[in-house]
Amino acid sequence: MRHRFIVPSAAAAVLLLAIPASAAGPTPGAPGIGDPYYPEAGNGGYSVSHYDLRLKYQPKTDRLEGTATLLATTTQDLSRFNLDFLLDVSEVLVNGKKAAVGRSGTHELEITPQTPLEKGKSISVVVRYSGTPSQVKVNGFTGWTRTPDGAVAAQEPEGAAWWFPSNDHPRDKATYDISVSVPDDVQAISNGVLASKTSRFGWTRYNWRSTKPQASYLTTLAIGKFDITEDRTAGGLPVISAYSKDLGDNYAPAKASIERTAEIVDWESSVFGPYPFTALGGYVPNVNSHYALETQTRPFYSPAQFANGANTSVVVHELAHQWFGDYVSVNNWRDIWLNEGFATYAQWLWSEKEGEGTAQQLADYVYSQPADSPFWKVKPGDPGADRQFDGAVYNRGAAAIQALRTTVGDQAFFTILKQWPEQHRYGNASIEDFVAFAEKVSGKKLGALFDTWLFTTAKPAVGPGGAQAA
Ligand code: ARG
Ligand code: ZN
Repeated sequence: MRHRFIVPSAAAAVLLLAIPASAAGPTPGAPGIGDPYYPEAGNGGYSVSHYDLRLKYQPKTDRLEGTATLLATTTQDLSRFNLDFLLDVSEVLVNGKKAAVGRSGTHELEITPQTPLEKGKSISVVVRYSGTPSQVKVNGFTGWTRTPDGAVAAQEPEGAAWWFPSNDHPRDKATYDISVSVPDDVQAISNGVLASKTSRFGWTRYNWRSTKPQASYLTTLAIGKFDITEDRTAGGLPVISAYSKDLGDNYAPAKASIERTAEIVDWESSVFGPYPFTALGGYVPNVNSHYALETQTRPFYSPAQFANGANTSVVVHELAHQWFGDYVSVNNWRDIWLNEGFATYAQWLWSEKEGEGTAQQLADYVYSQPADSPFWKVKPGDPGADRQFDGAVYNRGAAAIQALRTTVGDQAFFTILKQWPEQHRYGNASIEDFVAFAEKVSGKKLGALFDTWLFTTAKPAVGPGGAQAA
């Protein structure tokens, strides 16, 4: 009896193996790219190489309308696939042919082409859309902030879905052309180089280009009344910054800080290797938020960050992210220490250079937190989605880097800092990749050190100065 059962099923298994995978038929692309913290972030089944966004925005009504054209490559046979998007869609074309559109989850657009897509093919996807983004809420939150004279899109980990359809995860980077038409009395600021600007009928169109791979959360748009400064670095790269005309007392300190962008990028290039992008700058819209964001080539800053005068430290932080976060992006959001630990450590190196306290002193200060403080309960190497931007990821995370420095010595340490970014240039990496790289360069076993500093919910027994200093 038993024997008779086994024989036919084994035969069936052999038969299955003999059938090519494609004969199983095309299947839907996954609704998420596979990030443990954010199951719906990004999508499966394709990879985007370029976004072309052609938009129009009216600040008076907060109406955004436009067309997005995505160039992508399929990574499986697809019966349908998803995009992450929240606004109203009037039409979708896949390879020029009208496709069916449905919705699921909190922000999933399900696109079914007329005929299934074959694995490994180039596809084009055109999405026509419109909406009032500030009124679209997910759990009470909108990623599109209105200002008195315009709006801003700058959010992490997810903000793209309020203004363009995307594969919204840092693991799928692409180049961008962002063309935005706005009334003549406001301007549109985005990433990269301003390729051209044309006016007619009371509307001005700004054409921004990002020709290096860029993650969707690092893609930004701001509309408003700005003073725009334009300059060039010694090496010839355009430096374009924008300051809202309504910053009041924060205007001068914001400008005094952000106008040092080229100088800071120069210094950071000497520590982290050549600057990886083709434009620089920063922008400060008239918003009430308190954070900054390393939007690629042109970080977003909140006016409040300049409320006590100039703040070069935040500029150092956001510009360090151009290497740690933008050039090399997280593989999963759990790897956030690769961004925030290193951007914070850059601030410590700047402080050391400026004679305002060494990295060791700053690390010792972090270490002086009492052992029973909740600070030590957060693991910088796996903080969880709701603690992704906890102070521990930044400060304990930077102390971990100081602990690495004292363990391997300055020579190996600065070699690691300079060579790490180019190891994963324009791509992605995990914390495990970093640990392996640091071990390779230093020739030391570092697993226990990183376990203690990044993956333990307790104050490390030995401080960031190492055993000798304890
Ligand atoms: N990566 C940003 C920074 O540290 C943090 C952004 C946090 N996001 C937020 N909405 N508060 O520079
Ligand atoms: Zn940061």
